[in-house]
Amino acid sequence: MLTGRRVVLGVSGGVAAYKAAYLARRLTERGAEVRVVTTASARAFVGDQTFAAITGHRVVDRLFGVEGSVSPHTELGRWADVVVIAPATAATIARLAHGLSEDALTATVLASRAPLVVAPAMHTEMWEHPATRRNVRRLEEDGVRVVAPGEGPLAGGDVGVGRMAEPEEIVEVICEVLGEGPLQGVSVLVTAGGTREPIDPVRFLGNRSSGKMGHAIAEEALRRGARVVLVTAADLASSPGIERIQVETAAEMEQAVASVQPDVAILAAAVADFRPKAPAADKISRTSGPPSIELEATPDILAGVVGRTPRPLVVGFAAETGSLDRAVRKAQEKGVDLLVANDVTEPGAGFAVDTNRVTIIWPDGRSEPWPLMPKSAVAARLLDLVEGLLGARTETVSSPSDDPAHPGDGR
Ligand SMILES: Cc1cc2nc3c(=O)[nH]c(=O)nc-3n(C[C@H](O)[C@H](O)[C@H](O)COP(=O)(O)O)c2cc1C
Repeated sequence: MLTGRRVVLGVSGGVAAYKAAYLARRLTERGAEVRVVTTASARAFVGDQTFAAITGHRVVDRLFGVEGSVSPHTELGRWADVVVIAPATAATIARLAHGLSEDALTATVLASRAPLVVAPAMHTEMWEHPATRRNVRRLEEDGVRVVAPGEGPLAGGDVGVGRMAEPEEIVEVICEVLGEGPLQGVSVLVTAGGTREPIDPVRFLGNRSSGKMGHAIAEEALRRGARVVLVTAADLASSPGIERIQVETAAEMEQAVASVQPDVAILAAAVADFRPKAPAADKISRTSGPPSIELEATPDILAGVVGRTPRPLVVGFAAETGSLDRAVRKAQEKGVDLLVANDVTEPGAGFAVDTNRVTIIWPDGRSEPWPLMPKSAVAARLLDLVEGLLGARTETVSSPSDDPAHPGDGR
């Protein structure tokens, strides 16, 4: 997957520098050509010889006096398809945020037009310090991909947030940043799972959706090079390359969806249509007898997305029991680009199973039943359709009779 891709791996001075050796190994195993640049502090943790042995190339550890190179930072900066700094210390992050370039690593970053991936590692206090927060924010504003640190054991026996992301996760992010798939440059929002609407602090109104279909779509979009945001109410794993927003209620899902401006929105979540109007603050007691619970409508997330300007390409989902007539009406009336309908009572289709039997319904009422397939195969076929629709939109936008509500310009 990374065959022939040129990765500059910058290593700065934290204990996690030992993991950088493993990262270099993983990258070379994937076929990447790796050149390592170290800071002076990094060399206190891992010797250059280790990286040289793994990558087959001499480490660049200084700006001046490098054998065979008069300007190592510009040579490396131009050579790189991607620059990744792992671990990135608070000090290196601060230098990057301010555009300083007094060592080989930061000078290489400034001398490069390649995308930059940064994997911070430090003690929790350093990570949470306002100066670090500000510097990380600045990097993100500059378009740097920050691979957030996780929680776990830190140096000196401490435990907390600040542990460098695992090398596998960093490799995935690098693959994504370099992604050459058909959806590269396209942002895709996927919703998944069934929302839970509280009755009281203990009980909720929910549904049987497992989130498997939505998660399969998010994974497939990631594989195709898209930048994926997954708003999910499900308790399922997702790849580290996916930006995940965990929600519980329809209101939280609406808010999360509103925070994203995607090119494509695939709304596969089973959102509650109704919720208790006034959830009880305390657990409703059995002794007071069966309560009557007044319901109110939840926000129509699909309508909100369809009504946006500019409007993303929208794929809706409809879970029905029995006839799909209602789904056909939904496809015609809701303003979606296409609707994926399934009869959840059919064997092998719908909730909590790994297969699905869906019918694709177009806004003009045409429909196309697909056979029973694994959800991953449904996701792949659906994204083939989305790619076709995106292509058609791009062609439409270049014609003089543009529909301003459907710009399709790859926002
Ligand atoms: C034992 C030890 C462990 C350290 N670990 C970290 C660390 O994980 N993250 C960090 O930001 N700084 C850490 N530091 C501090 C940095 O090494 C120090 O700020 C240094 O100036 C970083 O320089 P560099 O960014 O040029 O590599 C550590 C220092 C010591 C002595």
